[in-house]
Amino acid sequence: VAGCFQGGRLTGRHVLITAGPTQENIDPVRYITNHSSGKMGFALAEAAAEAGARVTLVSGPVHLPTPDRVDRIDVVSARDMLAACEAAMPCDLLIAAAAVADYRPEVVAPQKLKKDPSSGDGLLLQLVRNPDILATLAQRPDRPFSVGFAAETENLLEYATRKLKAKNLDLIVANDVANPGIGFNSEENAVTVIDRAQQEIRFAQTSKGKIARQLIAFIADHMDQA
Ligand code: CTP
Ligand code: CA
Repeated sequence: VAGCFQGGRLTGRHVLITAGPTQENIDPVRYITNHSSGKMGFALAEAAAEAGARVTLVSGPVHLPTPDRVDRIDVVSARDMLAACEAAMPCDLLIAAAAVADYRPEVVAPQKLKKDPSSGDGLLLQLVRNPDILATLAQRPDRPFSVGFAAETENLLEYATRKLKAKNLDLIVANDVANPGIGFNSEENAVTVIDRAQQEIRFAQTSKGKIARQLIAFIADHMDQA
């Protein structure tokens, strides 16, 4: 019957989404991480699946159910997240919503670290840079349409624009995380999207589910123009 099959905006497209925090082990009982509930990334995965896409969701440790018709791959560290994303390539659209730890301990202690009385009251932990997952994938020859997030506590639009250029992105979603009512563990969000022409498009505060659907529709429009 005609009209039975509702073709979505992203039908036939493969969408890869990163979500949640990463955890970088210090020893068997301790780790370094970021604040991130994963809600925004999971809401985007759900909205992309609703729009007809085949969705791969690579998630750090979160407490969220997997949205319907989404292939979820759970990872722990930034390096695991990059490897899982590379294995999931190629894709048509990459949305990097994960709060990736920028650094990890240079060595992971095989046993639980004990307090060392000889080193006084301090502890020095040597950290090394993690790979940039988004920048790595946006540099590949089979580069997808690439969307980043910029969570900032100050100079939001300036820093977001800088990241758009530095990582060679098509769009960046600027998220003001200094405002306690939005972002992070909140149920709601409000964002500004910046495109390559440095146009700023504001999405007013509402539930993360609604913001996700608005963002997916907006991204689908931009992909058609690209
Ligand atoms: N990102 C990533 N891999 C990293 C760091 C960041 O994929 N190792 C992605 C995030 O998922 C986000 C975007 O890059 O989409 C921007 O992340 P953010 O932490 O705001 O920027 P950084 O480039 O890490 O810069 P800084 O933390 O110094 O502000
Ligand atoms: Ca960072």
